[in-house]
Amino acid sequence: MGHERAELERWKREAAEAAVEAVRPGMVVGLGHGSTARYALLRLAELWRAGKLPGLRVIPCSRRVEEEARALGLPLATLEEHPEVDLTIDGADELDPKLNAIKGGGGALLREKIVAQATRREVIVADHTKLSPVLGTRFPVPVEVLPFGWKGQARFLEGLGARVALRLGADGAPFLTDQGNYILDCWFGPIPDPWGLARRLEARAGILGHGLFLGLVHEAFVAGPEGLRHLAP
Ligand code: A5P
Repeated sequence: MGHERAELERWKREAAEAAVEAVRPGMVVGLGHGSTARYALLRLAELWRAGKLPGLRVIPCSRRVEEEARALGLPLATLEEHPEVDLTIDGADELDPKLNAIKGGGGALLREKIVAQATRREVIVADHTKLSPVLGTRFPVPVEVLPFGWKGQARFLEGLGARVALRLGADGAPFLTDQGNYILDCWFGPIPDPWGLARRLEARAGILGHGLFLGLVHEAFVAGPEGLRHLAP
């Protein structure tokens, strides 16, 4: 692993482990998908195995997180069993100064948003490269669409000013979300009115979710060359 890459991993781990310190015995904890949130999963599993978090229950935001949590012996639960989640630890692709985020680089945006909506304390963990003055500056907005009629959604999104790419898997076929849907990655550039854009997306049949997480994040731990920072809007 190159020096820079190793540093990035250290920062991701530092941010994730700082968030895990807020987890208490008996809590219902949502766990996001992605390489940063994974460090939180690993730390939680350590604490659980050491008997330090009795009564913990974990709600995974993707099938992959569910499989990994199960393999590590973490106690899994569902939103049906626990419609209120105490704390969720999740990553982000971009985070603005008000802690609005773009998420979904890993494709788990819809489940992550459903869990975030059910969460009392949504905590983002990230390295400093995720900080952005304006959403859309660094990352496309992933939009989850029903495969039926997806080209119509692509045209609609282009009409909103985006450069649109159908996300492909490693095999070159369309990437499928855990729900069996497609993802259209939408490069808008800096988005002056993310709330307005979110409303347009949410009003469109065939669009099932988008990666704009607005007003959902309560705090963030961000690590980088200047150390670990705890951010709240
Ligand atoms: C998963 O769909 C995403 O929302 C991730 O949380 C996001 O892409 C951040 O992932 P990394 O921590 O791997 O950068």
